Amino acid sequence: MHAEPGARPASASADFAGAQPRPGLVISNATILDGSGAPRFAGDVAIDGDRVTRIAAPGTLRGGASIDATGLALAPGFIDVHTHDDRMLVDGGGMAPKVSQGVTTVIAGNCGISLAGLAVGAGRGGPPQPLDLLDGSGDWYRFPTFAAYFAALERQPAATNAAFLVGHSTLRAAAMDDLARAASPAECRRMCAAIDEAMQAGAIGLSTGTFYPPAAAAPTSELIELSRRLTDAGGLYVTHMRNEAEAILPAIDETLEIGRACGIGVVISHHKVAGLANHGRSIETLARIGEAMKRQPVALDCYPYEASSTVLSAVRLPMSSRVLVAWSTPHPECAGRDLAEIAAGWGVSAEAAVQRLQPAGAIYFMMDERDVQRILAFPETMIGSDGLPHDASPHPRLWGTFPRVLGHYSRDLGLFPLEVAVHKMTGLPAARFGLRGRGRIEPGAFADLVLFDPATVIDSATFEAPVQPAAGIHTVMVNGTPVWRGGRATGERPGRVLRREGRA
Ligand code: ZN
Ligand code: CU
Repeated sequence: MHAEPGARPASASADFAGAQPRPGLVISNATILDGSGAPRFAGDVAIDGDRVTRIAAPGTLRGGASIDATGLALAPGFIDVHTHDDRMLVDGGGMAPKVSQGVTTVIAGNCGISLAGLAVGAGRGGPPQPLDLLDGSGDWYRFPTFAAYFAALERQPAATNAAFLVGHSTLRAAAMDDLARAASPAECRRMCAAIDEAMQAGAIGLSTGTFYPPAAAAPTSELIELSRRLTDAGGLYVTHMRNEAEAILPAIDETLEIGRACGIGVVISHHKVAGLANHGRSIETLARIGEAMKRQPVALDCYPYEASSTVLSAVRLPMSSRVLVAWSTPHPECAGRDLAEIAAGWGVSAEAAVQRLQPAGAIYFMMDERDVQRILAFPETMIGSDGLPHDASPHPRLWGTFPRVLGHYSRDLGLFPLEVAVHKMTGLPAARFGLRGRGRIEPGAFADLVLFDPATVIDSATFEAPVQPAAGIHTVMVNGTPVWRGGRATGERPGRVLRREGRA
């Protein structure tokens, strides 16, 4: 589960290179970062079908096809543990913001929001915020069950693999007529049945977003009752916590309590401390999380930016030094502009401008760079983009997260070695989310691979121009099939639904 410094694959040997049939593809002379966190080493990697079959000394393997990787790093494909890609996967499935970064697996259904589990019905109007982050019209909320969603995705696969969480807010919207209160016993039973369906279909856990209105009225007891359905199924509780500002410690404690009460692992999503008054408090939160890890399974992820992004809400204005509008249904021309500037232009207060722009999304500058770095560098922190693929002017994390960790934080700032950066986006998340055969380069592992230039890899997406493929990503392969090569998507769709282990 953890990095074993110095460990090398036992099979990293050229001894029998000539004794086996020619592999379909050989990536030769690569600098291999195997995802475990162990030191890099030079080698050849053979791929047959959807698997890595051999690792050998550089220049020793011959294959039907070959890629000369001299000067390039070869890593397991990156696992984006925090996404809102539910719709992008079934809406064309090209996944360009992800494959262009080297991401080969995404975990969708985060923050309490899953596309599956709610059938709004075409033309019946939009779902409540923040479910509109996936689709404001409601038309895409057309999968009443996870089985129905998985069937649709498997009929038309996407470019990346995906694993799924069932969203608590989605289930509430489906089961309750009034979201501003606790669920009744009958409503809880309905949601429990929906969780059972999702877990049987192959979901890997439950996500909550108690920060947001559709779930804010859910008491801890409701969350525990629902999460008990995960105990036997081996599911995870993944949460956008109630509070990431003043009351962050009680929010962490609530998350830990749910994990202990149900005997399940918990994941704290996009860990941050928001608001000027809380800058520096990652020292406290990481201490609390690190203490808890000695007693129960706890994981966390983070995106590498000091600005957050979600629906536009006046609540977040006082915490932010600057607010950018990401999208607005009545005012699409405001996407990408400063809220202060829009309000000044209209001659109204920022709060009044927020009202006029609804429904809308925004980017909030509300964190301290030192907290971001402290959280990123915490050994157990995984990388998740939290990108919002349907925003008109999205947060640059959608296109830039992984190359930014590799190029900016690891190489340029030296926050941690490249081996550690890769581990945080491969071996560590595969272990925490139970993705067997992913996140490592070793014989028998799936050939989810990314070949990149460690000297030049960097994010290109900025707050001003957020839709930009990163630099330095050479070739990306999902289940042995190239999805990104020479700066463009290949158009292939080899992605699979990664179901919870032990299920068909
Ligand atoms: Zn969230
Ligand atoms: Cu999220």
